[in-house]
Amino acid sequence: MTLPIRRATAADATALSAIAIATYTETFGDSYPPQDLQAFLDDHYSVAPQRRELDDPRSAIWLLEDAGHVVGYLAAGPNGLPHADAREGDIELKRLYVLAPYQGGGHGARLMDAFLAWLDQPRRRTLWVGVWSENVGAQRFYARYGCQQAGHYDFVVGDSRDLEFILRRP
Ligand SMILES: CC(C)(COP(=O)(O)OP(=O)(O)OC[C@H]1O[C@@H](n2cnc3c(N)ncnc32)[C@H](O)[C@@H]1OP(=O)(O)O)[C@@H](O)C(=O)NCCC(=O)NCCS
Repeated sequence: MTLPIRRATAADATALSAIAIATYTETFGDSYPPQDLQAFLDDHYSVAPQRRELDDPRSAIWLLEDAGHVVGYLAAGPNGLPHADAREGDIELKRLYVLAPYQGGGHGARLMDAFLAWLDQPRRRTLWVGVWSENVGAQRFYARYGCQQAGHYDFVVGDSRDLEFILRRP
């Protein structure tokens, strides 16, 4: 089933917030105390921060839709991962999520293809990705695109610190 993928616009802030909260909760919701999770979602994935991301001309976000409903997304923008080799102009793949019922159907790969076509125009840019050290499936997925481990850092949610790998596509 080929579902449509399109670039998100400023008008998509509410839909983007909803899919960001739904997918993060589905993937990592059991990993944190409810209050920590809620504070993290409010800070990062509520409508206001999503609108800021959409308004940033250096960011690019793609939506995967099924019958007009957003069921997955990919968000990219200026690199914020802490790495000594990171340079101005490098891009970070900040989030790539597909709702569970839609996983494993090639939609993630198609979101990646849309993103990489943008990333490499008009010149090939360095890509950084942060991924949870225990998310082996996602690491295998990113390895297919030439992303290799280049470092690590602690990802903080409330009182939790998770080891996060920093991947780079040179
Ligand atoms: C990672 C993700 C976006 C890939 O999208 P997708 O549509 O499932 O991917 P595709 O069908 O194009 O490719 C499947 C590949 O994705 C990878 N993958 C990662 N997490 C997976 C998951 N929970 N379920 C299935 N595949 C997953 C695997 O490498 C799989 O390949 P395999 O056949 O060798 O196992 C999606 O699985 C997802 O949203 N996972 C949960 C959220 C997540 O972990 N996001 C990354 C955070 S850094």
